[in-house]
Amino acid sequence: MLRDLIVKNRSYRRFFQEQVIGIDTLRELVDMARLSASAGNLQPLKYILSCTPEKNALIFPHLTWAGYLKDWSGPCEGERPSAYIIILGDKRLSKSFGCDYGIAAQSILLGAAEKGLGGCIIGSVRTKQLRKALDIPSCYEILLVLALGKPKETVVIETVGTDGDIKYWRNSEGVHHVPKRPLDEVVVG
Ligand SMILES: Cc1cc2nc3c(=O)[nH]c(=O)nc-3n(C[C@H](O)[C@H](O)[C@H](O)COP(=O)(O)O)c2cc1C
Repeated sequence: MLRDLIVKNRSYRRFFQEQVIGIDTLRELVDMARLSASAGNLQPLKYILSCTPEKNALIFPHLTWAGYLKDWSGPCEGERPSAYIIILGDKRLSKSFGCDYGIAAQSILLGAAEKGLGGCIIGSVRTKQLRKALDIPSCYEILLVLALGKPKETVVIETVGTDGDIKYWRNSEGVHHVPKRPLDEVVVG
């Protein structure tokens, strides 16, 4: 069921780093993004794939993890993503990229969830440094980085409490809790 997949598709930030994700798997996931909706059908998105320890190591330092977890600076060596898909906007094809890249990210992450993998959308990226590290041409805008791997953490959804606090948090067992607003609050008419 699609609903089950959507519930399973949480943001995971700790992984079994040694679990290899092959280039064919990444290509399969991008293929699903390629078939997704695009404003004006311009299809301006391009992708950089990474699944080797060497290339992954060039990407990781330029990502920011879990802003609300103030005492955690991101996954340690051994728990880092096994792969990345960097979503780029080709400025030669469009001046703006609307919500195409959000749709593409969701297609990729649902595909990953179906394969028993998990990931995290990283929007907080030090793009100048990443561009330099991977020698990304200026015709491409860096839009999002998708971190991928075999999840090594439990993530549970809970309902936002009466205090309205939406910050995710981690309990003493390391279980990550994500408050979601109730349906009756988000349906406004
Ligand atoms: C556009 C976008 C950008 C995000 N950027 C980051 C990020 O830079 N770092 C991070 O750790 N999580 C990032 N996230 C993940 C969110 O924190 C996560 O979706 C939110 O906490 C809800 O958790 P859930 O995805 O499990 O529902 C981003 C999510 C989206 C949609």
